[in-house]
Amino acid sequence: MPELIQAPRGTQDILPQEQKYWRFVERTVEKKLEQVGFGRIDTPLFEYPNIFLRTIGEATDIVQKELFSVERMGTRSATRKDLQEKTQYVLRPENTASIARAYLEQGMANWPQPVKLWYFGPMFRYDRPQKGRMRQFYQWGFEIFGDDNPATDAFVIMMVWNIFGALKLTKNLVVEINTLGDKTCRPKIKKNLSTYFEKYSDYLSEDARRQLKTNPLRILDSKDQKDQEILAGAPQIVDNVCETCKKNFQAVLEYLDELAIPYDLNPRLVRGLDYYIGTTFEVRQRQDTGRQSSLGGGGRYDELLTQLGGKATPGIGFAAGVERVIEALKQNQVKVPEIPGPQIYIIQIGETARRKALTAFERIQQMGYRVTSAFSKEALKAQLRAADRAGARLALLIGQREAFDNAVIVKDLAEGSQETVKLDRLDKVLKRKLKK
Ligand code: HAM
Repeated sequence: MPELIQAPRGTQDILPQEQKYWRFVERTVEKKLEQVGFGRIDTPLFEYPNIFLRTIGEATDIVQKELFSVERMGTRSATRKDLQEKTQYVLRPENTASIARAYLEQGMANWPQPVKLWYFGPMFRYDRPQKGRMRQFYQWGFEIFGDDNPATDAFVIMMVWNIFGALKLTKNLVVEINTLGDKTCRPKIKKNLSTYFEKYSDYLSEDARRQLKTNPLRILDSKDQKDQEILAGAPQIVDNVCETCKKNFQAVLEYLDELAIPYDLNPRLVRGLDYYIGTTFEVRQRQDTGRQSSLGGGGRYDELLTQLGGKATPGIGFAAGVERVIEALKQNQVKVPEIPGPQIYIIQIGETARRKALTAFERIQQMGYRVTSAFSKEALKAQLRAADRAGARLALLIGQREAFDNAVIVKDLAEGSQETVKLDRLDKVLKRKLKK
């Protein structure tokens, strides 16, 4: 194959035989969320960079290293200044910031609150592709704007648990939860961590030393062996949050206990996006400890709308990676509904028959049956084999004779029986055979 005739690294084609998994995930999420008052939102795949720079945070990996810029072909490539001045677009690396932008732009503050939205679609991050990490990947997720009650935090986790339950995955899953403090206590938390890590700065990994300057909270998430030892003695966020954060977090945990949703407190959970405050959580598979193991993550982002220039509005949400969820479905051998194949396969032999076959095809699909054919095939044997392979229940054969008699041979591929049927009786026979 010529070199460039291939999909870009970190992307994939999703073929028909894979679609049953995709459909299962999307329909399950849709059903569960629309049942409890969420409406679907689709936002553009590209946005002005500021949407992400201001919210996800300039110092995060996503903004520093993983944004794809979009430009018209033939122009020079984007500089950092272009990005900041909104003269370029970027492919969305996630959807929360885009939806917050839509909330402000579409005047959703005037809708009855809270506003509950769900989504399913592709995101783009220029990362080093590896198992579970792609450059184009899909997320399903949901957001709630205009509700700051801790019961809503628990409701979000309840819905996440509920959806993973409907996906038959909860057996091996755990919810890890933490609180990150808010604008009152976050500065103090950061300062305490900085003071602690400064003492060991010579021993920290390169990444951690960089984060010490930008966001010391992120060091807590380090998987580096050197950092791990230092982390063991680091001050815990929960011990340094303000009274309000402590009270809210306590309430969330109590609600979860009441709902009997299992969770693990993870004092090191910080997440890779800066907009989070208060409750944050991740869903991961129990046997996995690696970095790519989280199926999804979410949390509160009560400052995000102000970061975009809007009126202060609380928000909370969650998103999961669809490829990772599908991988988990396969690992756990979850049976997903098959996408139904054709019920009827039309076989034609000879030119006159082909003409009749096309008319019959049109009638049958108008009746609502799933029907298929291969008009370029000539031999009976090849067409019967194709009918069998397609999993059709019935083969309808039209040869010269049938074409002349306005009839078809209805062959029941499951029972092996066959009968000749006049076209005007076909409807009745199909109904009987396919129990429609
Ligand atoms: P996130 O943790 O960056 O959060 O992404 C959520 C999930 O998307 C991850 O747990 C993972 O399953 C999947 N994911 C992320 N990056 C990749 C990748 N490169 N390849 C494959 N899957 C990936 C967010 O995006 C937030 N917007 C979630 C949220 C919604 N918070 C509040 N509301």
